[in-house]
Amino acid sequence: LQASNPFKGRDVISTKDFHREELDHLLQTTARLKENPSEFEGRLEGKLLASLFFEPSTRTRTTFKLAARRLGMIVDEITAEEATSIAKGENLRDTLKMYEGYGVDVMVIRHPSAGAARYASKVVRCPVINAGDGPHEHPTQAFLDLFTIKEEFGGIDGLCIGMMGDLRYSRTISSLSYALSNYDVELRFIAPPLLQIDQRTDGMELYLRMRGMSYEKLFDVKKVIGELDVLYVTRIQRERFPDELEYKRVRGSYRVDAQLLEGAKEELAVLHPLPRVDEITHEVDASAHAKYYEQAANGLYLRMALLLEILG
Ligand code: CP
Repeated sequence: LQASNPFKGRDVISTKDFHREELDHLLQTTARLKENPSEFEGRLEGKLLASLFFEPSTRTRTTFKLAARRLGMIVDEITAEEATSIAKGENLRDTLKMYEGYGVDVMVIRHPSAGAARYASKVVRCPVINAGDGPHEHPTQAFLDLFTIKEEFGGIDGLCIGMMGDLRYSRTISSLSYALSNYDVELRFIAPPLLQIDQRTDGMELYLRMRGMSYEKLFDVKKVIGELDVLYVTRIQRERFPDELEYKRVRGSYRVDAQLLEGAKEELAVLHPLPRVDEITHEVDASAHAKYYEQAANGLYLRMALLLEILG
């Protein structure tokens, strides 16, 4: 690990809380760790991680658990409210206080309510990591997205990055955009009007303007496919639509397929936080542009690095 450690003992709630030097520090640690993960195994022997997932997850929950175990940590999990005293009416605060009392060293929380992770960080003294709070943020996904982009291109400055899909309800879009505001990049927000960033209620667009970000909003990806270095795609977050009719209006309104990619730069990287539904056709998986499986795999190394930095 590097000598000065800006993550030690910190909560990870929003990518807005981290500036460029801190992000670069984490990406460097992740790169070292990915090169030789066995060098770091057992470094957090005996430390306790509480993994509290009140929403479904495959990648985030699994990679935190595997990362913690490779570092020698003990992991306790909540994966379904029905299996806990929450089903008997216990509130979130009491659940968090119990885990604190059992001496956990770090809590990872995913919750359907925006602000739940920030709330948790006020309730307990140990560091809290936001693993996704409703449509609000998913900072560790953004960190691994940055790592994947840097790994692909050798750097982040100078790139043209398209974000396509459900920009309204996706928490990966906000976290990644905030993180990218530390770099000299061009953004293209590609979505039907109902799913554009100006439909968000969290002030994301205002924040990007205040940070002086250079961006453009459009619907037709074909207009910009040839200028993109990265195309970051998200699924429609059906579960967050207040009205099923509104969801049906935008269902199937965008897609990445082999024909679209014919107009792309050779080095275009297609990323997706996953899970995918139908917004990237399976024929794209075989193309050299498809980087989303590598991106998901990077989650393990990024989360090992993050735990080491916070607790090391
Ligand atoms: N990318 C992501 O957060 O995936 P999961 O919902 O499976 O954790």
